[in-house]
Amino acid sequence: MSNGVRVAVIKGDGIGVDVTEATLAVVDAALAKTGAAPLVYDPIQSGAGYFRDTGVDIEPGGEKRAGEADAIFLGAIGLPSVRHADGTEISPHLRLRDRFGLYAGVRPVRAYPNAPQRLADPRAAGIDMVILRESTEGLFYSAAAHGRSDIRGDEEVRDTLRITRKTTEKLHHFGFRLAERRKARGKPGKLTCVDKANVFASMAFFRKIFDEIAPEYPGVEVGYNYVDAQALDLVRQPWAFDVMVMENMFGDILSDLAGGLVGGMGMASCAEIGDDIGLFQPAHGSAPDIMGQDKANPLAAILSGALMLDYLAEKTNEPGLGDAAGLIDQAVEKGFEANRLRPMEFGGDMGTKAVTETVLEFL
Ligand SMILES: NC(=O)c1ccc[n+]([C@@H]2O[C@H](COP(=O)([O-])OP(=O)(O)OC[C@H]3O[C@@H](n4cnc5c(N)ncnc54)[C@H](O)[C@@H]3O)[C@@H](O)[C@H]2O)c1
Repeated sequence: MSNGVRVAVIKGDGIGVDVTEATLAVVDAALAKTGAAPLVYDPIQSGAGYFRDTGVDIEPGGEKRAGEADAIFLGAIGLPSVRHADGTEISPHLRLRDRFGLYAGVRPVRAYPNAPQRLADPRAAGIDMVILRESTEGLFYSAAAHGRSDIRGDEEVRDTLRITRKTTEKLHHFGFRLAERRKARGKPGKLTCVDKANVFASMAFFRKIFDEIAPEYPGVEVGYNYVDAQALDLVRQPWAFDVMVMENMFGDILSDLAGGLVGGMGMASCAEIGDDIGLFQPAHGSAPDIMGQDKANPLAAILSGALMLDYLAEKTNEPGLGDAAGLIDQAVEKGFEANRLRPMEFGGDMGTKAVTETVLEFL
């Protein structure tokens, strides 16, 4: 690949293709606006469709090339009809998380004006929080893609929830730094440790490490919640939370719940950050029920594109990239404020193309 800031692009399956194309158009336009150099894209073939056609789920050398880029952008991978013999789906993206140690899964959840509010309480208009999902271990340590399940014939299967000090320390430091950065931007800057420390030794360990690290960040208010109570609170009083840190499976489930509070999966952006590289993708899947119909909401992907530009700005010391991220966030905010963004996902009249064109207009 040539010089410049390099992004490996995996469009994947179903609506992943459409929302990736929408995102790259918006990212390119935002960079042109700030005068920053365009990104250099390296397209990589991967996904369930690719597996069906070729017998492998990512093109030869694709994983290595992805790791050589400055960031990876991924649309969505998976088709329920394409499965391995044991019934699990192909999931090369889980291998990417594992291979590149993408431990910090950042999932912002924000209410926009004129977007649906699923809760009647007017305070729901102020929902603005981040779920920080550990993304390499926890219960997903045993994800089928890794072949680590303890399968005892056809009688019993054991999956392992793994918490290591090394990853958990990095995760909690990441959470505290994120809370500090949010505080600097006028947000509460509070970090809640979400666990099940009352029942599982692994979760008590997770909380112990949280408590060891907390004193290093005296400016960050800390809180604790058991995951079952957190599910209740995300419906009862989501406005009371800022950043929540948790193990992988808890984050998988609660981030969908949280996404539902502010519209749906089409609003759920996601960054997965490791020591050397970050992967950016909407939190949703390939949505086979609506694929090929121009119905997908591309905003989760577009907002993930903004997260990617922010990450690249810091990584490459190119402030123009951060400015472009800010422009995209503002375009989405203003589009909703003016009621000009009306995705079909929430009963509006705008499909993928119309939403993308409107974001481009606001840029
Ligand atoms: N990271 C990933 O690539 C990822 C994540 C989740 C699921 N998947 C895969 O995607 C496939 C479908 O999974 P699923 O149906 O459980 O989850 P999904 O997220 O694809 O869809 C769930 C529901 O949300 C809707 N939806 C999702 N994104 C939307 C968008 N941008 N705009 C409008 N509506 C949207 C869908 O139409 C569907 O009704 C499966 O093969 C699954 O394994 C992949």
